[in-house]
Amino acid sequence: MSIAIEIAGVSKRFRMYREKPSSLKQRILSGRVRAEDFWALRDVSFDVAEGEFFALIGQNGSGKSTLLKVIAGILRPSEGVVRQRGRIAGLLELGAGFHPELTGRENVYLNAAFLGLSHRKTDAVYDDIVEFAELREFMDTAVKFYSSGMLVRLGFACAVHVDPEVILIDEVLAVGDEAFQARCLDRVRTFQKEGRTIVLVTHALDMARQLCDRAAMLDHGVIHAIGGPDQVVREMRRTISKHDLEFAREEGSREIEILGGSLHRGADPLAGALAPGECVTLQVDLKANEPVDDPVVSFALHDGANNFVFGSDTAQHGLALGRVDGKRRVRFQLGPVPFTGGQYWVTVGVHSRDNQRVYHVQDQRYSFEVRQTEGRRDQTYVPVTVGVEEL
Ligand SMILES: Nc1ncnc2c1ncn2[C@@H]1O[C@H](COP(=O)(O)OP(=O)(O)O)[C@@H](O)[C@H]1O
Ligand SMILES: [Mg+2]
Repeated sequence: MSIAIEIAGVSKRFRMYREKPSSLKQRILSGRVRAEDFWALRDVSFDVAEGEFFALIGQNGSGKSTLLKVIAGILRPSEGVVRQRGRIAGLLELGAGFHPELTGRENVYLNAAFLGLSHRKTDAVYDDIVEFAELREFMDTAVKFYSSGMLVRLGFACAVHVDPEVILIDEVLAVGDEAFQARCLDRVRTFQKEGRTIVLVTHALDMARQLCDRAAMLDHGVIHAIGGPDQVVREMRRTISKHDLEFAREEGSREIEILGGSLHRGADPLAGALAPGECVTLQVDLKANEPVDDPVVSFALHDGANNFVFGSDTAQHGLALGRVDGKRRVRFQLGPVPFTGGQYWVTVGVHSRDNQRVYHVQDQRYSFEVRQTEGRRDQTYVPVTVGVEEL
């Protein structure tokens, strides 16, 4: 398999000027403006194979757009090199690559020329571009008057009509109306079938999983994970939930407080990952700040993608706590866990039986991991016994 894009040891430094010197005198006295270096990319290396559909994911500010611009040749890396073969068309951040003062028509020709298309060849595709972008009446308007949707349409139309070998798409599939998004996606799929190379920055993790051959996750300018899209998307979701945890919601009126929740394997605090089919105990310690009648303790489990997977409470299992004053310890013993590989997040709460009053909730505060059995693709764990008899 030959390589379409080779990214070797790429770092990108932005120089940030914190403050403008307030006077010439100050500038002379201090010698220069205070600048700070900010590394948007650090030592990024990977290859994209010819014909590969590659997804770049990562949280805002992780460096995805910067990396695409470096690949497109719009930004020069501070360190490292990018080598790429073939015509590379980019649909980068909104308006990047367009000249605001020029008209739509002029921008189309400029863009095409930049990509090495002759005037004649551009003439030949011009009508298709305009039609695809649905901007017939606006081609003689300066693009600075375009809405974001119009910019995206023109950008996408240009990118797909210049016969690129490599196409870079930054997030744009999220902008614009649904009909246009569907058409873009359609085009991208055609490109994929034609064996062109695609690098797509996206927030749509499920789309990345379904469409892409491979993915990389950037985190603070560093490649945090790279590989099969399932694995990388899972890692991304794990990171997101960890991040959410820092802002974990706690709410409630606190007549009863949760002192803490913990997970146990048998009598011991849970250490390490569970195997599918193992049992686990969730222990919740409570303290009543004033006597409360008949509170209900509940828990919920969410997977790494924040899907609710299971929940239960003391009332459902016929346990009445009665009048609670002082402290209590509630134990939920979970039978063989039916989950396969992944991280699970535990929410615990105390509330009145009719749910009208929430005393205290800790949202996705605790977590445990279930191991993925090597080489298995099970969605769920089912306990099985097997036998044989002679007939
Ligand atoms: N021209 C620039 N000057 C200074 N900092 C920049 C510039 N472009 C991007 N950055 C910074 O680099 C980091 C990565 O940005 P970006 O690549 O746009 O991230 P993403 O696309 O993943 O959201 C951000 O912290 C951003 O503020
Ligand atoms: Mg971006």
